[in-house]
Amino acid sequence: MRIIETIGALQEHLGQCRDQGKTIALVPTMGGLHAGHLQLVDKAKTSADIVVASIFVNPTQFAPNEDLDKYPHSPEADKKGLVDRGADVLFLPSVQQIYPENQTSDYEVGEIAALLCGKSRPIHFDGVAQVVSRFFDIVEPDVAVFGEKDYQQLQIIKQLVKRQNRNISIASIEIARESDGLAMSTRNKYLSTSERMLAPHFNQALRQAKSNYESGMALDDLINKARESLGRPFELDYFEVLDANTLTQITTSSADVIIVSAVKLGITRLIDNIVFRRSNV
Ligand code: PAF
Repeated sequence: MRIIETIGALQEHLGQCRDQGKTIALVPTMGGLHAGHLQLVDKAKTSADIVVASIFVNPTQFAPNEDLDKYPHSPEADKKGLVDRGADVLFLPSVQQIYPENQTSDYEVGEIAALLCGKSRPIHFDGVAQVVSRFFDIVEPDVAVFGEKDYQQLQIIKQLVKRQNRNISIASIEIARESDGLAMSTRNKYLSTSERMLAPHFNQALRQAKSNYESGMALDDLINKARESLGRPFELDYFEVLDANTLTQITTSSADVIIVSAVKLGITRLIDNIVFRRSNV
């Protein structure tokens, strides 16, 4: 695996790959890699000839009160994981490389960024769209791969690609879970031992809500039940049942449903979702 730190060196290498007729997949990450990230690499390998993984902790998607300074960092383990999974290039740019002075990009996100996580993290998705847009400009991948845990992020990136008229296909992988159901996340490292024991209850609440939905319970009732079951020490941010394609209210024509939630457990923000097809459409 080549480790490349500058945009010039990356573009020179990728130019040579393209000259040989090779296609390129991008797996953008912020490091602190877990098994779910490595599954993104597996997916990328099935989608293109050359896999570029990037590790860049993007400052513009963190609010001042968030965890930018202590975001988990495991460079040696990350490199080993990426080599073992067969990534071809690890792009490790500095903040200066990604955001040189006066650099702006087309990252207007629109209404979807104000929903769900956007309510409590108002600048987050602008920052995500900005950095992803920048990576797309630099790498010009044929395909880019993202995880479905960050479902709202995935929809925003799909919209971005459409709006910017980019010829990039967006692939995704299902949520990678621990054996007790907890969705894998770099931030799970913040959980204390006792919080880690309680954390799977979050996914159980989502699964219970799905089963209540399927047995015909009214939406308000099933959401209230989920809210009750996620009592202290969970602090609920939101718990919603929505049309999975628009992230707005379910209508008679909604084919896919998402049950999506965010909570805080101690200092750790957890997000999770379940997407399923409606049986009665
Ligand atoms: O999902 C993430 O890890 C980040 O939001 C991303 C897409 C790498 C952008 O910084």
